[in-house]
Amino acid sequence: MERTLSIIKPDGVQRNLIGEVVKRFEKAGIRIAAMKMLRLTKQQAMGFYKVHQERPFFESLTDFMSSGPVVVMVLEGGDVIQKNRDLMGATNYKEAAEGTIRHDFATDIEKNVVHGSDSPATAATEIAYFFSELEICR
Ligand code: CMP
Repeated sequence: MERTLSIIKPDGVQRNLIGEVVKRFEKAGIRIAAMKMLRLTKQQAMGFYKVHQERPFFESLTDFMSSGPVVVMVLEGGDVIQKNRDLMGATNYKEAAEGTIRHDFATDIEKNVVHGSDSPATAATEIAYFFSELEICR
């Protein structure tokens, strides 16, 4: 059993896509083990994305991620990191495969609706950024 962190970004929440994203996870047999809505401060967004701090899009990305509420989830299941990445599609929605969340709903490389951890080590760090072990349902 594997865990990953999913975020429905401010564009997804604002455009009423929470249900659509959650439906896709559930239909794929992924279990939602924890879920909450919150609004990141700029500082918290910078902390979450600190691996990207040298990238030219860091300032804009962290402004965007702190611009409105997000929904954060712990997803659980076999091979769930890859499964979630397959459901999301490529970061750049123009390269995302048909039927993926980003292909269907993203409007911009930045406003790409969802975030998902990219490896087991990242997943552990990202989950711990938002959830204590007590908040994750077994
Ligand atoms: P995410 O998977 O959350 O990881 C980093 C985010 O930076 C990415 O999705 C996009 O929202 C954003 N981003 C903006 N510009 C770029 C870019 N040129 N390359 C990669 N990510 C970008």
